[in-house]
Amino acid sequence: MPITFKQLKGPKGLPVIGSIHKIDLPNLHNQLESWSEEYGKVYKLILGPSKLTVITDPEVIQLILRERPDKFRRMSKMDEVMTEVGVNGVFNAEGEDWKAHRRIVNKGLDVKHQQQFYPEVVATLERLFNKWNNAVGQNQEVDVQQDLLRFTVDVTTSLAFGYKMNTLEEEGGVIQEHLEKIFPMIFKRINAPIPFWRYYRTKTDKVFDNAVVEINKLVDEFIVSGKKKLADNPKLREQPSNFLESLLVAAEEEESITDEDVRGNLLTILMAGEDTTAHTLAWAIYLLAEHPEIQTKLCEEANTVLGDDKWLKDYSSNTLLVYTEAVALETMRLKPVAPLLFNEPLEDMEVNGYLFKKGCKLLMETRYASMQEENFSNPEQFRPERWIKQEQGKCPMGHDTKAYVPFGAGPRFCPGKNLALLEMKLVLSMLMKNFSVELITPKEEVKEIMAFTMMPSSYQVKLTKRK
Ligand code: HEM
Repeated sequence: MPITFKQLKGPKGLPVIGSIHKIDLPNLHNQLESWSEEYGKVYKLILGPSKLTVITDPEVIQLILRERPDKFRRMSKMDEVMTEVGVNGVFNAEGEDWKAHRRIVNKGLDVKHQQQFYPEVVATLERLFNKWNNAVGQNQEVDVQQDLLRFTVDVTTSLAFGYKMNTLEEEGGVIQEHLEKIFPMIFKRINAPIPFWRYYRTKTDKVFDNAVVEINKLVDEFIVSGKKKLADNPKLREQPSNFLESLLVAAEEEESITDEDVRGNLLTILMAGEDTTAHTLAWAIYLLAEHPEIQTKLCEEANTVLGDDKWLKDYSSNTLLVYTEAVALETMRLKPVAPLLFNEPLEDMEVNGYLFKKGCKLLMETRYASMQEENFSNPEQFRPERWIKQEQGKCPMGHDTKAYVPFGAGPRFCPGKNLALLEMKLVLSMLMKNFSVELITPKEEVKEIMAFTMMPSSYQVKLTKRK
């Protein structure tokens, strides 16, 4: 007989509210991991009227993620919260609708587009180098997180709209300021057991509403100018020069894609592409600051691949940055920025001996598995070598990729994975070719903060120019 929700163990709660009082939202992923130690890899968590099944078992997680969109969907509350703010895109679409969204998003993010768009990424990388180089010249401490957010917002906006944003040099990037307010609120609402905001708007709700209106206005302006550009230059239809143009062409070709969907996917790409990559890079730099020996190895690789250049100018050579990619992968094992995935079954489903009833809430915490000795040996250690095939042969490091899903898995895995890895390799190779990094903020003061993405609390570093 499969194990039912009722039979699952879980933290003891109070009448009516369950365990709501125990939840510390910015630390939710750590709480879920430590409860997994106590109650197993599948357990229950009752938060007022919400009954959640928490899953950290990698086999169960893989089986669920691979059965989308036919047997499982993202948690319906996520769609409700996102639709409410006007985001109807690939992230919250379901079923046949999702398939149409995903087709057009894949097209806009494929390697061909990435290659076409490379000169713009390199120009943004040069601005990041200049900013860090100036900081070194003036002997200033550097807030790399803020710079990285500006880097990814510039890259994502130029990919999405073909618009050269340049928040790296001009303070006060409008899009980024709005997104900063939108992200944490969406996370808070998805996790709120009762939707208070529908009955009463607090000051923060109003700031959030305003950010949503403003960002929608901006995106609408981009759509109008994108349509005009396509009308003025019909040749662009064959080779759209950015994600917006790809979407507009697809919307003309696919009846099911509306203007509303174009806007939803632009917002989705802006939201999904910015914080995730910036915070992963911020974690990588934090970890590197603790490991000078890994910085040296990165520098050696950068010297070989970049030659005399300060950053990677030739797109095709990015595949040679093998150790740099391993650093990015290892960073995402220890510090995955999206460790929580919310899904629900579309029918009663038995998975690996558990019965999940139609519509029940499944909250997957994905880091737990990648920190277990049975999946990765010495899991607490930052060892990029474990991602390099030749090294694995020489020194077995216990390596089970099933237990590693920082980009999700199955048909809905992250379509921005290649772009994210490219950005990470570019920034890390540029950084290590030119500078060494030292943490100024005491290590123990840097905390993990969960606000939709799991980011480090603010920290400062000192960059030193390499001879
Ligand atoms: C380090 C950077 C990134 C990480 C760790 C990350 C992680 C994830 C994860 C965990 C998911 C959910 C997958 C699932 O449900 O199986 C996801 C979905 C998604 N990501 Fe990323 N992501 C990153 C960067 C990006 C970038 C750069 C873009 C686009 C420019 C992007 C666009 C998306 C989209 C559109 C989805 C929804 C896919 C769907 O539902 O079909 N992501 N990402």
